[in-house]
Amino acid sequence: TEPNIAQLAPWVSKTTDCMELRLVQPQLDQPDASEPITFTSFEPAFTYPIFGEQEVVFGYKGLSIQISYTSGSLRIYPRNDYKEKYVAASSSSASTIPESADDVSSMILDFLPKQDCFSNYDEFVRTVQEDAEAFRPMGEKVHEYTRESSENDNEEEHFEIYRTSLANEKFREYHRRMQFFVLLFIEGSSYIEEEDEKWEVYTVYKRQKAGASTFYHFVGYCTTYPFFYWPECTRLRISQFLILPPYQKAGHGSELYQVIYSTCMARNDVKELTVEDPSEDFADMRDRNDLRYLNTHKALDDLVAPVSRKTMKELRQKYKLTDRQMQRCVEMYLLSRVN
Ligand code: ACO
Repeated sequence: TEPNIAQLAPWVSKTTDCMELRLVQPQLDQPDASEPITFTSFEPAFTYPIFGEQEVVFGYKGLSIQISYTSGSLRIYPRNDYKEKYVAASSSSASTIPESADDVSSMILDFLPKQDCFSNYDEFVRTVQEDAEAFRPMGEKVHEYTRESSENDNEEEHFEIYRTSLANEKFREYHRRMQFFVLLFIEGSSYIEEEDEKWEVYTVYKRQKAGASTFYHFVGYCTTYPFFYWPECTRLRISQFLILPPYQKAGHGSELYQVIYSTCMARNDVKELTVEDPSEDFADMRDRNDLRYLNTHKALDDLVAPVSRKTMKELRQKYKLTDRQMQRCVEMYLLSRVN
C-alpha cells in the first residue's frame, strides 16, 4: 500500500534550516593547523527562488546543503549530504506520492555558473589557497576605511570599495558568481540583465595582510543603473544592495551607501538618486545616512513646519533625493527638534 502524505513528512526538509553558506580562506593566523583552510558560515534568509514558495525539498532525511565560496574570488563548491534518500515502494502514474527524491544539486546548479563550480573537494581546497594570494578586486578603488577589529582590541581592519561596470567581461564572470547571494538575502530579487553594459557595480572587500601577502575578502556589493532623466540627465537607481551577514551591523552598508551618494553629488549629470524596492533595514540605513549628510551640510537648519513646497523643491534639487525621501528627512529633522 502507498504511504499517505503524513508518513512522507520526515522526508521533507526546510531548506532555510538545512542550507549553509561558507566563506572559505586559507589558515592565515595558524598556518600550522591541521586543516589548511578555515571558514565563516551563515544561513540564507530566503530560498524560494531556488526551491519554490514552500522552501522545501522532498526525499531526504538528515539533509545538509553547503555552498562554499573562496572568500575573495568567489569560486564555488556546492555539496549536499544526507543520511537516507527516499525510494518509492512502487511507481504508479496516477499516484500523488512523489516517485523520487528531488534533485537538489541540479536545482542549485541552475542558478550557479557551472564552469566556476567544483565537484572535487581537494581541487576546491587548492583553489582556496591559490586564489587567496592571486585575487585582486576589479575596477577602480573609490574609497577605503578602517574599523576596529571585532576580535582583537587595538587592531584595525581595512576595507576598500571598488567601482566597475558590467562592460568589463572579466567582471561579468565574477558577477555571475556573486549574484547568487541576492536571491538568498534580498526579498523579491532576481538576476539582472547582464548584457546591458550600463550597470555599474560597487564591491566592498576586507583587505588583510599576512607576511608579505595581501588578501581580499568579499564583503558585499551594490548594483546601480543610470536611467534617463528628462531632458538630458541621469537618475541613478540603486537596484541591489547587499552586505553579507557576517559583516552586517558594522557600518559597511553605510560606507557603501555614502560612496554612492557622494558620487551622485559630484556628478553634474546625475539629478536624483532612487532606490528600487528598499527593504526595511535598507530604508533605516538610508534615512540615517541622508539625515547625517543633510545635518553636516546644515541643509535643514532653521526649518520650521510647515515647510513650503518651494523650499522642499529647492532642497530636493540641491541634495538629489527623491520627493518622498526628502520629505522623510525633513519630517525626521522636525521631529528631532520637538522639545
Ligand atoms: N558597531 C555596531 N553597530 C553598528 C556599527 C558598528 N560599528 N555601525 C553601524 N551599526 C549599526 C547601525 O546603527 C544600524 O543599526 P540600527 O539600524 O539598529 O540603527 C545597523 O548597524 C545597520 O547599519 P550598517 O551597519 O551601516 O548597515 P549594514 O552594513 O548592516 O547594511 C543592509 C544594511 C544593507 C540592509 C544589510 O543588512 C543587508 O544587506 N541586509 C540583507 C539584504 C537587504 O535587505 N538588502 C537591501 C535590500 S533593498 C535593495 O537592494 C535596494
